[in-house]
Amino acid sequence: MVGLACKCPRTRLPVGASALGAFVLCWLYVFPAYRLPAEKDIVQGVLLQQGKAWRRNRTAGTAFRKLLEDCCDPGHLFAMTKQNSPMGKNLWFDGEFLYSFTIDNATYSLFPQATPFQLPLKKCSVVGNGGILKKSGCGRQIDQADFVMRCNLPPLSSEFSKDVGSKTQLVTANPSIIRKRFQNLLWSRKAFVNSVKVYNHSYIYMPAFSMKTGTEPSLRVYYTLEDFGANQTVLFANPNFLRDIGKFWKSKGIHAKRLSTGLFLVSAALGLCEEVTIYGFWPFSVDLHGRFISHHYYDNVLPDSGFHAMPEEFLQLWFLHKSGVLRMQLEQCAEPSLQSAV
Ligand SMILES: *[C@@H]1O[C@H](CO)[C@@H](O)[C@H](O)[C@H]1NC(C)=O
Ligand SMILES: *[C@@H]1O[C@H](CO)[C@@H](O)[C@H](O)[C@H]1NC(C)=O
Ligand SMILES: *[C@@H]1O[C@H](CO)[C@@H](O)[C@H](O)[C@H]1NC(C)=O
Ligand SMILES: *[C@@H]1O[C@H](CO)[C@@H](O)[C@H](O)[C@H]1NC(C)=O
Repeated sequence: MVGLACKCPRTRLPVGASALGAFVLCWLYVFPAYRLPAEKDIVQGVLLQQGKAWRRNRTAGTAFRKLLEDCCDPGHLFAMTKQNSPMGKNLWFDGEFLYSFTIDNATYSLFPQATPFQLPLKKCSVVGNGGILKKSGCGRQIDQADFVMRCNLPPLSSEFSKDVGSKTQLVTANPSIIRKRFQNLLWSRKAFVNSVKVYNHSYIYMPAFSMKTGTEPSLRVYYTLEDFGANQTVLFANPNFLRDIGKFWKSKGIHAKRLSTGLFLVSAALGLCEEVTIYGFWPFSVDLHGRFISHHYYDNVLPDSGFHAMPEEFLQLWFLHKSGVLRMQLEQCAEPSLQSAV
């Protein structure tokens, strides 16, 4: 196994002071001094907006892309590359307080020279996994984009393709999924290789350097795909990018301990693409017609509560939708070709 040269605890602060600091921070995270509008009120607010024609506002879109470039430089820092992460560079894990690592040459050799996309990307679909996608009929519209991004290795079998499409250029994978679903690739690796075939020639974007425990599974995914001659390639998320995006949204008022993968991905898309449409980003238990919906389009497993602040994130995305920066698809998708065929 390739090790990372140095994992050194930071010991600058006296133990007591840092313990107290950490305690206060945790307290503020767990019991933040703010209240969100109730789910019912948010849904009501969205309903009021329905039926109003949405228009992309290029001025607002360009201004927002500029903000993201200034804070986070997605074009250069989205992934670990030879350009932004030279050998010997020391980086801090973005999801831990205490650990850093140094890029050794074995790890360095896994990075592409630069961000491997033709930038800017034109039309992008970012697909969340919300139950609102079920029976949406949005598959074709999703696939019409030039670049389709998905979250957390979602199922794409044929029963879902009408609603979520089948095209993928980039899909995120958390190391925890590799641990839970594929036994960290310590035993059979074939099941994993087979299960990612649905993603065709896409990049698998892994936060390998967010938590110390995530690095090994991520490297193992890289080597597994390489050893099997698979069509997918791992792109390692750059922890500095993830941290900067986190700070950016914190400055906009998101209080969560950590952003959801979905918001990271939408933020990256807004920096990398000229036009962004998002699907399946609806963290509520009823749809716009008051019908109960499952948590994901493929199951109803609820997340650990308290970790992400989904309604809070939703409100930020909804604001971007209203400003014309991105389009959020919440209704079922019209199928113009079917209608005209009748
Ligand atoms: C587009 O966005 C800009 C900047 O946010 C705003 O000043 C302008 O009024 C918007 N245009 C339309 C047509 O809404
Ligand atoms: C890695 O770096 C060491 C020290 O600089 C060097 O001796 C070794 O040849 C390098 N290995 C590779 C695969 O480049
Ligand atoms: C998979 O990739 C091939 C070659 O790039 C392409 O022809 C095909 O349409 C893709 N399939 C899907 C489902 O995107
Ligand atoms: C990789 O993609 C090519 C072309 O789309 C396909 O023919 C081939 O079977 C794929 N390889 C694997 C291992 O899936």
